[in-house]
Amino acid sequence: MYTVIGGPSSQNLAKKLAKRLDSNYVPANIQVFPDGESKITIPKIKGKIIIVNSTFPPVDSNLIQTFCLISQAKKYASEVIVIVPYLGYLRQDVEFLPGEIVTSAVIAKSIAACGATRVITVDAHSEIALGYFDIPVINASAITKLALYFKRFNLNDPLIVAVDFFWSANAKKFADVLSTDSIALNKQRDKKTGHLKIIPSMSKNLKGRDIILVDDMISTGNSIILATKYLKKQNCGNIYACCTHGLLVKDSDKRIHQEGIKDIICTNTIPNKNSVVDVSDVLFSALSL
Ligand code: R5P
Repeated sequence: MYTVIGGPSSQNLAKKLAKRLDSNYVPANIQVFPDGESKITIPKIKGKIIIVNSTFPPVDSNLIQTFCLISQAKKYASEVIVIVPYLGYLRQDVEFLPGEIVTSAVIAKSIAACGATRVITVDAHSEIALGYFDIPVINASAITKLALYFKRFNLNDPLIVAVDFFWSANAKKFADVLSTDSIALNKQRDKKTGHLKIIPSMSKNLKGRDIILVDDMISTGNSIILATKYLKKQNCGNIYACCTHGLLVKDSDKRIHQEGIKDIICTNTIPNKNSVVDVSDVLFSALSL
């Protein structure tokens, strides 16, 4: 029998998961001091523990709180499963430029060192980054759930477009659910300046077709906006933005809508007004793997 602890950043999702598991749910109690340090309390628990805490912004605070929760849970239980629905820092998975710290490796080591026995995350940005864990990791997928959500819309001959080439297999999986086709854009980012560009390579006639742009995350929205500008030139129909992790920093939501995007659809790995797709069942299934 598990007890599910809802960390400060994922209490609703943790509660939903506990309900599916028919388990006890315990919210972590958090107080943040004026200097930003946090005091977290969880009651003494018997049996196996599942911690759910996402590491969206403020990423560092949410990470520290996750480490603290694992460390305390380990005092109570020999099995501590940590679910980090959005696991931050995975983009830094190799030393791209000399001297850059491979942050994902540091995070992986820290989670294991705090006492986690297993990790579950959703649509991790990088398999390389997950390779730094020396404890079992499950990378669950929200693609099917995201795609099913779009069945409610009356789409005109939809085309699924991966904003990044590395998501082409996921775009294909998404398209299969909607019985349609997919393509991937060739987006390139300058490693020094961060400047983005799309290398033109359009082989399909998009005229009038509705587009669903898919990606693992939307952060500043710059990738989605760039893709939208490019696709609009091909006279496509409505454009929707869809991702697992809606970081949507600063005014990106507004900027994306200003670009003419019809809707932004995300999951509740990061709770916000666009997180309309619940992944508690995806986590539930991952626990039985
Ligand atoms: C890139 O590697 C990722 O898959 C996303 O495309 C990217 O992180 C989105 O970031 P932004 O919204 O800032 O362009």
